[in-house]
Amino acid sequence: MQLQDILFTQGFGTRRICAGLIQQGHVQVRGGLVTDPAAEFDTGGLRFVVDGVEWPFQDRAYLMLHKPAGTECSRKPSAYPSVYTLLPAPLRQRPQKGSAPGVQAVGRLDQDTTGLLLLTDDGQFIHRMNSPRRHVPKVYEVTTRHPVGASQIERLLAGVVLEDDPQPVRAAACEATGECRLRLTLTGGKYHQVKRMVAAVGNRVEALHRSRIGGLVLPPDLAPGHWRWLAAADLAALAA
Ligand code: URA
Repeated sequence: MQLQDILFTQGFGTRRICAGLIQQGHVQVRGGLVTDPAAEFDTGGLRFVVDGVEWPFQDRAYLMLHKPAGTECSRKPSAYPSVYTLLPAPLRQRPQKGSAPGVQAVGRLDQDTTGLLLLTDDGQFIHRMNSPRRHVPKVYEVTTRHPVGASQIERLLAGVVLEDDPQPVRAAACEATGECRLRLTLTGGKYHQVKRMVAAVGNRVEALHRSRIGGLVLPPDLAPGHWRWLAAADLAALAA
């Protein structure tokens, strides 16, 4: 693929802007400056450098973000900064056929929820991860206002009725991890589901953190507000 097309697909702007970046000496491949926008490269395993920052060529982008509190998962946030502002411009701008450009969050977390958020430009992956049929477990660490009672855990496991649906929703797993702490595993993704389930058993969520999706755990060394590419092993952990 021509270098200008490589940059274009990776979100560095229009083909004209990408050609300009290359001609003006901003781009290196395999340790050497390349100034010909039409220079051809095999994209398999390709890494290139733009203004000193190294990028792997990614046919599709899959990443995880440690979502900090006080951020919204919307592109048009109403009150708090968007999580998308935490990503570098090329990830926000990757061109897409027939949908909004850039990577999209795989489901949403509330503005005050922290933890593991996946983002991708692969629409089928988003669909698969969000499909209720796949039952991908999501693990939440919950801090509650009141001490957690055994009967509250029993009710969360047995199923509670939320006001928008007569079908009860139940936790796939639930355990107390402290006097006012719960670890709750859900396979669904209804609006405010954890907060509403905890409220339904007479308690209240004071803080909420997503620590795991499928077999993928939020890495302890990924600080709030930081992101990283998903490795093949991470994708396999999600698919397992
Ligand atoms: N459940 C909630 O109530 N909020 C979230 O952000 C995620 C799950």
